[in-house]
Amino acid sequence: MKNNSFTVAVLGAGNIGSSVIERLLKLDNEIINLNLSKVLVSDKSKNRGFDKGLLTTDFNEILNDEKIDLVIEVLGGVEPGKDYIKALLENGKSVITANKDIIADCGSELIQIAQENNVCLYFEAAVAAGIPVLKPLIESLRGEELKRVAGIINGTSNYILTAMEEGSTYEDALQQAQELGYAEPDPTNDVEGIDAKFKAMILSLLCFGVSPSVDDVFTDGISNITKEDFDWAKRLNKTIKLVSQIDNGDDGFNARVYPVLVDSKHPLASIRGALNAVLVEGENINQLVFSGPGAGAAPTASAIIGDVLSACHQMVSSQTNWYPLRTLKSGNKEFKDVQSSWFIRLSVKDEPGVLATIAGIFGENNVSIESVIQEGRGDNAELVLVTHEAEENNLTSSIESISDLSSVSLVTSNIRVFI
Ligand code: HSE
Repeated sequence: MKNNSFTVAVLGAGNIGSSVIERLLKLDNEIINLNLSKVLVSDKSKNRGFDKGLLTTDFNEILNDEKIDLVIEVLGGVEPGKDYIKALLENGKSVITANKDIIADCGSELIQIAQENNVCLYFEAAVAAGIPVLKPLIESLRGEELKRVAGIINGTSNYILTAMEEGSTYEDALQQAQELGYAEPDPTNDVEGIDAKFKAMILSLLCFGVSPSVDDVFTDGISNITKEDFDWAKRLNKTIKLVSQIDNGDDGFNARVYPVLVDSKHPLASIRGALNAVLVEGENINQLVFSGPGAGAAPTASAIIGDVLSACHQMVSSQTNWYPLRTLKSGNKEFKDVQSSWFIRLSVKDEPGVLATIAGIFGENNVSIESVIQEGRGDNAELVLVTHEAEENNLTSSIESISDLSSVSLVTSNIRVFI
């Protein structure tokens, strides 16, 4: 840094990297004087629409260049980005990354390394891309003890669920998402909740000071949701969303990702297409909802540029320290002890006593039923139940026993209800 001018390097020039570089090169120098000095790529011969003289294939050229103040990491994947970020921070360079996999994996360790080396580490783009939500959580809301954070933080699955709400099958909706470039050819990370899990792990760290492991976060995706589930949801004035839910009540902390039935009047129900939303609850703020574009190169680059400006501002004032992370006051709550309400569809034989047997099993497991609807007759009857809140392990045990009944041919679906 010299006379409030900053020298910047970028690791990666893919879809997001290119968008970041374009923004950096056009940034109004009345806001800040940035000098883009190097871009790490694997192939220098490719034409990328900017000066080829910026390209390097050697990370050490960036690591050891004393003029570089700040490095933007947009390589994707965990390695080698994780080792690069550590080395850069240890070498006194501030780092901005969009990489949720790395921050979920070792965010608290990297924050500590940044603090020890008096440099900045920001990753606003790693959760909900274009929505500036992490900075408010770290700074504006640092004085708040948060109770619950619940988000739609995977745009691809929200696009698919919105298309299904409008009448598509899962398969057609996934194909549309792939054609539009939201879903990868292998959509597993998005549709099975893995991407949302990594983001929930980052939110757990920033909102509650907890770094749950991958196995600690119960995760279920949307690939088993059917058009019929949406038909039923509509009849109950609800829709279905993939929600990452993190709560920290008096009985403990738990983070999880799963599809839920959401009341159609709830703010999360109105988040459509590839948009994201993060809902934050605390005693003094009641409820805040941040929403907007959660994926895509331009929104991701916007969050990265915001982080670059924050880091430069902090480097000028030598105030690179974070507020201390929150610490968890309660213990952890295992998923089996979480209170849930379930929506359950069963294919049953319509015979006297079937409903009484099913109700008896729920009763034995301490689960109370809120409503029951039966449709059809004979061997093809459908029973749709919604339970009151009960412990997950009691609900699971009930369903195991019910699925063993000879009068129940199939547990067609069980989806949690967002409470
Ligand atoms: N694939 C993610 C989504 C965006 O669909 O939301 C990157 O995290």
